[in-house]
Amino acid sequence: MHRFLRLSILLVGMFFAVGSYATDTAPPITTEDDLGPQVEQPIEFPHNRHAGLHDPADDADPSKPAKGGMEINCMYCHTYARRSMVAGIPPLRKCIGCHQSIESVKETPRIKKLFEYWEAKKAIPWKKVHDLPDFVRFNHERHVQRFVFQQNRPVQEACGYCHGDIKTMTVARRQKPLTMGWCASCHQKDHLVSASSSETSHGPNDCFTCHK
Ligand code: HEC
Ligand code: HEC
Ligand code: HEC
Ligand code: HEC
Ligand code: HEC
Repeated sequence: MHRFLRLSILLVGMFFAVGSYATDTAPPITTEDDLGPQVEQPIEFPHNRHAGLHDPADDADPSKPAKGGMEINCMYCHTYARRSMVAGIPPLRKCIGCHQSIESVKETPRIKKLFEYWEAKKAIPWKKVHDLPDFVRFNHERHVQRFVFQQNRPVQEACGYCHGDIKTMTVARRQKPLTMGWCASCHQKDHLVSASSSETSHGPNDCFTCHK
């Protein structure tokens, strides 16, 4: 049983290794997907309704709750991703800024709870979904600068290399393994230096770049 499992993992690995040579200009970035445990949050925040794709049927009656999303840019809420180590969780005032004028969901239990935190002047105690051990060094800025600003890839796609398809999720779940081997396998690939050149470079592979 075990040996069979190891062999199939090896074969899958070889398949992807070959695949990344076949498409030189846009190498497939990461491959494994598996929804991690669902973290219980103080308020179930629906990424799909905020960042998900717009459904034209919703335009007919704006007073009704929407079926599609609003396509809000990930970095509108996670504002630090482009310029610091962390991506950041938006402060409550950002939620209230919109929600104080959104009538369609004002009386729902979740939005009532949102205003309870606001009136009590308390931050929402969100729990971590992704959490690397403390001895690992990770930096959003470098990755986001490279993929979004230098390579010109869409934001959702770039975040998705490491977070999966968050815009379809009702609660954020960890979808990628975030193991050392997983980080390293992407670092070993040829990554375009910019959208306008065919020059590539690898991510760092020495221990101390990722470890303190
Ligand atoms: C309207 C604001 C908003 C938008 C837009 C938004 N997020 Fe979030 N995001 C949040 C909040 C609030 C949380 C904390 C609650 C949770 O973890 O479910 C969160 C959590 C996350 C987490 C998990 C954080 C952790 O603890 O590990 C990831 C990853 C994430 N968002 C990625 C994205 C991506 C990718 C997009 C774009 C597709 C996006 N977010 C769009 C507000 C937003
Ligand atoms: C850009 C404006 C905007 C921002 C910012 C925003 N929301 Fe929303 N949110 C909406 C809209 C619009 C809806 C309702 C869509 C609909 O009609 O179904 C919604 C729906 C929701 C719902 C579902 C309500 C229900 O129970 O049906 C929750 C929960 C929610 N938002 C939480 C949050 C939290 C938490 C934040 C801050 C991290 C936030 N929102 C930030 C616009 C926003
Ligand atoms: C190269 C992989 C990678 C990319 C690209 C990436 N992330 Fe992350 N993200 C991570 C890892 C790894 C963690 C966990 C960090 C830790 O625990 O120290 C994380 C944590 C987070 C968190 C929670 C903690 C924090 O940093 O605030 C949020 C929110 C988040 N990412 C959002 C985003 C968004 C939005 C994008 C796109 C703009 C993005 N990430 C792009 C790998 C990535
Ligand atoms: C989608 C591919 C991809 C994934 C997945 C990825 N990286 Fe990277 N990483 C890169 C690339 C490309 C660079 C080079 C960025 C640059 O300097 O332009 C890089 C750079 C880095 C750097 C150097 C930053 C600096 O300040 O010099 C660190 C540290 C790093 N990555 C850690 C990680 C860790 C830890 C993980 C796993 C949790 C990870 N990366 C996952 C592609 C990736
Ligand atoms: C691209 C980033 C990256 C590089 C380069 C890297 N590591 Fe890691 N390493 C990680 C991550 C991420 C973890 C956490 C894995 C987890 O939690 O599953 C880790 C975990 C570890 C652990 C803990 C045990 C384990 O396997 O979980 C050790 C020991 C370790 N690394 C040693 C090294 C050594 C030695 C090197 C150089 C040969 C190295 N690492 C290079 C990202 C990296």
